[in-house]
Amino acid sequence: MPAIISVLREKVCPRARRAGVPISHPSWRPSLLFVFALGALIGDTTGVAADADAGKNKAEACVACHGDDGISQTEDTPSLASQPDLFLQWQLVFFRSGARKNEVMGPIAEQLSNEDVRDLAAFFTSLKPSDSSAPKAPDDRPELTEAGKKAAADGRCAACHGDDYAGTKAVARIAGQHEEYLVKALHDYKSGLRSGGGVAAMAEVAYPLSEEDISALAHYLSRL
Ligand code: HEC
Ligand code: HEC
Repeated sequence: MPAIISVLREKVCPRARRAGVPISHPSWRPSLLFVFALGALIGDTTGVAADADAGKNKAEACVACHGDDGISQTEDTPSLASQPDLFLQWQLVFFRSGARKNEVMGPIAEQLSNEDVRDLAAFFTSLKPSDSSAPKAPDDRPELTEAGKKAAADGRCAACHGDDYAGTKAVARIAGQHEEYLVKALHDYKSGLRSGGGVAAMAEVAYPLSEEDISALAHYLSRL
C-alpha cells in the first residue's frame, strides 16, 4: 500500500513532493481505493487509442457551452482548451460517477463511454489556450491582482500547477480561466462539494483560504 500511495502522489503532483507541500489527507483511504478502481479505466491500454479527430466530432455536443475552440464565452463555464489530457479524463469520469456533482455535466457525462472520454480529452487538450500576450481589458482592480499574486506565492500554487499555471497530468491549467468559475471551483473544494482525485490535494489547499484570498487568486489567475 505505501508504494501505491507514493505512486499516486507522484502522479497527482510530482513537484509537490519535492517542494515539500503537504499533500497527505486524513481521509485518503476511501478516495484512494475509489481512484484506483477508476485508474483501471484511464490507464487502460488494451482499449482503442485516443483519437482527437473522433473527439472533435463528439465535441459538437460540448462546444455550445465550452466554445468552438475550447475557450468558453460564459463566465461560469470553464474553458477546456489545452487542459492536460489526464485532468480532462479524470473530471469526466468524476462527473460520470457522481464523485464531482454538477447538474449540467452529470447527465452529459453519464452518456459517455470510456472511449468517448479518451477521444474528447485528446481533442480538447490539443487546442491552443487563450493567448496570454493578447491585449487585455485594463485591470480594474490592480490591488486585487497584487494580492492574488501574493496569495498564490504563499499558497505555493505553482508547486503543483507549474510556474506558468498551465497544469500537468491530473493537475488543472488555471492560467487564463474565467474568474467567476475559479471562485466557484475554490468554493467547491473549500466546502467539500468537490474533493478531486488522489489525495484530495485541493481540499487541503482551499480549506484555509479566506473569501478575500479566493477573490484575489481568481482575479490574478484569470488575467494571466
Ligand atoms: C449546457 C452547457 C454544457 C455542455 C453542453 C457541456 N458542458 Fe462541460 N461544463 C459545463 C459547466 C457549467 C461546467 C462547470 C461545472 C462546475 O461548476 O463544476 C462544465 C465543466 C466541464 C469540465 C470540467 C472542467 C474543469 O476545468 O474542471 C469538463 C472536462 C467538461 N465540462 C467537459 C465537457 C464535455 C466533454 C462536453 C461534451 C460532451 C461538455 N462538457 C458539455 C457546461 C457544459
Ligand atoms: C498539492 C498540489 C496542489 C497545490 C499546492 C495546489 N493545487 Fe490546485 N489543483 C491540484 C489538483 C491535483 C487539481 C485537480 C483536482 C481535481 O481533480 O478536482 C487542482 C485543481 C485546481 C482548480 C480547479 C480547476 C478547474 O479547472 O476545475 C483550481 C481553481 C485550483 N486548483 C487552484 C489552486 C490555487 C489557487 C492554488 C494555490 C492557493 C492551488 N490550486 C494549489 C493540485 C494542487
